[in-house]
Amino acid sequence: MAIKHFLQFNDLTRDELDYIFERTRWIKAQFKAYQQYWPLVDRTLVMIFEKASTRTRLSFEAGMQQLGGAAIYLNTRDSQLGRGEPVEDAAQVISRMSDIVMIRTFEQEIIERFAENSRVPVINGLTNEYHPCQILADIFTFIEHRGPIQGRTVAWIGDSNNVCNTWLQAAEVLDFNVHVSTPPGYEVEQERAGLYGHAHYEEFSDPMEAARGADLVTTDVWTSMGFEAENEERMRDFADWQVDADMMKVAARDALFMHCLPAHRGEEVAAEVIDGAQSVVWDEAENRLHTQKALMEYLLLGKVAG
Ligand code: CP
Ligand code: NVA
Repeated sequence: MAIKHFLQFNDLTRDELDYIFERTRWIKAQFKAYQQYWPLVDRTLVMIFEKASTRTRLSFEAGMQQLGGAAIYLNTRDSQLGRGEPVEDAAQVISRMSDIVMIRTFEQEIIERFAENSRVPVINGLTNEYHPCQILADIFTFIEHRGPIQGRTVAWIGDSNNVCNTWLQAAEVLDFNVHVSTPPGYEVEQERAGLYGHAHYEEFSDPMEAARGADLVTTDVWTSMGFEAENEERMRDFADWQVDADMMKVAARDALFMHCLPAHRGEEVAAEVIDGAQSVVWDEAENRLHTQKALMEYLLLGKVAG
């Protein structure tokens, strides 16, 4: 089987995604019923973190263990990665000692160079440009609550960051629409987002207009990891881009609210929204576990059912 990586959302086709969502449902049901499912016995996941994480580390490490395998955590601070070992060399070595690798790093180019030199599948656990595992979980969560996402409208309010870019790619693969509203100067960069065109998204200068009629309203921190030096300026620039109760009122009546977390209440989202009835953020976080188990199963074993 040719090695398959998941470096950005459109590395998977719609058929593959449908299959992964179907497997996620089954794997989640087994987990909830305390049924042991160990298809990855003797397989080792190496997780490389160059940025902080709670959910990504936990969901990959717990997920691999729950599938019968083992997970090893490496970070820049206490491995040779932080001391300038070339990424190509690290990829050669790490991929000879493991079966699958997950990386959280800075530029997308780093993970691409790693993957080019890897003997095993590589998963993007967040880069400056993309966060594909997050959107896998988000779309699965949408489907669980509301059914197919095809033809639906997602409102993205705030920074056109890695999570936003991934939503935009997902819209192209799965045929839904994204209404994006960013402050001036923070607009979507089509090339950086890896998009083919404008067909699946529309930009709005007024965030209320982006949210109007949306089936899902979602946002993220105003300052992503790696951009901390811009924090003060961003606090000022994004002040009018908070998802609050008034914004949720103009969305569809049964609109959901999502946030990849960690969140800053009172900045990108009002407490009454993230802690309110339309918010599904805890399901969304939990589904990182189930979707990534299905993803690892697929990348390592191919289609095992259906
Ligand atoms: N949403 C997400 O990726 O969270 P962590 O940064 O905690 O992994
Ligand atoms: N956009 C955020 C997501 C954190 C999970 C960041 O990159 O810091």
